[in-house]
Amino acid sequence: MMKIRKAVVPVAGLGTRFLPATKAIPKEMLTVVDRPTIQYIVEEIVASGIKEVVLVTASGKSAIEDHFDYSYELEIFLAQKGKLDLLQEVRHISDLIEVVSVRQKEPLGLGHAVKVTEPVVCNEPFVVVLGDDMVDAKVPCVFQMLKVFEEFQQSVVAVQKVPLDEAHRYGIIEGKKVAEGVYKVERLIEKPAPGTSKSDLAIIGRYVLRPEIYGCLHKTLPGVGGEIQLTDALDCLRKEQGLYAYEFKGSRYDAGDKMGYLQATVNYALAHPDLGGKFKEYLKKLVADLDD
Ligand code: UTP
Repeated sequence: MMKIRKAVVPVAGLGTRFLPATKAIPKEMLTVVDRPTIQYIVEEIVASGIKEVVLVTASGKSAIEDHFDYSYELEIFLAQKGKLDLLQEVRHISDLIEVVSVRQKEPLGLGHAVKVTEPVVCNEPFVVVLGDDMVDAKVPCVFQMLKVFEEFQQSVVAVQKVPLDEAHRYGIIEGKKVAEGVYKVERLIEKPAPGTSKSDLAIIGRYVLRPEIYGCLHKTLPGVGGEIQLTDALDCLRKEQGLYAYEFKGSRYDAGDKMGYLQATVNYALAHPDLGGKFKEYLKKLVADLDD
């Protein structure tokens, strides 16, 4: 089986849940502590051994490409001022990855965002990592999934348990457990109406996909919300080849949602090497004052 070299990162969504912040700034560029969300995502991809990133972008998203490009004026300025630590930091960001961008001309859904990458990914397996879905884990989530892919040789979706009354907000899988944390998927339902599935295993923003997904995407008609749903194409892949779901180890934050973003900020601030201690003291005092 071929080594996985490419990560597709869709960032072409409109971010309506985070308006007005996202009117002129892509949600993937919103800062969690000291870095934009997208940098955490890219660092996870790099830590998993992948260096080629295919960004699916749209108009108004060029700040993301700039963030991973050299910035000559800034670098010359920092060099002249002798700010070498900062110079190294901004260079490090650009050197993390090789970026290829593909435009999604209309926001026709996540499935469509993956479909437009076909000419650059072609005929090899790849990972998809959503640009606003953060996972904090000892072993990077993408790396965990690559291990499952190596073992089972079929496409893998990341899942986590969610409260049953929230299941209708996710793509849900039903399946048979085949190994610790691994399920063979038997059914996929995008945003199930309450009461239509007993499963609490929700798909989150990490996928390892075999290239046959493109054939399935070509056959997928617009589904829920008029969008081309990746979940529908995954169901086609399941029928044609089989599909596995993996309950990853780690904490996931939906940073494209205001509440998820706040939780991510607190989590990453507490874990920050310089700020963590002071922030913890601050939180403790805040909580004590709230209890009074
Ligand atoms: P979301 O549904 O979280 O993104 O899609 P959104 O549409 O920007 O969010 P809201 O609901 O309006 O707030 C998950 C991921 O898929 C990308 C998004 O950028 C996000 O990273 N996406 C979604 C696309 O690239 N294209 C699309 O047509 C839809």
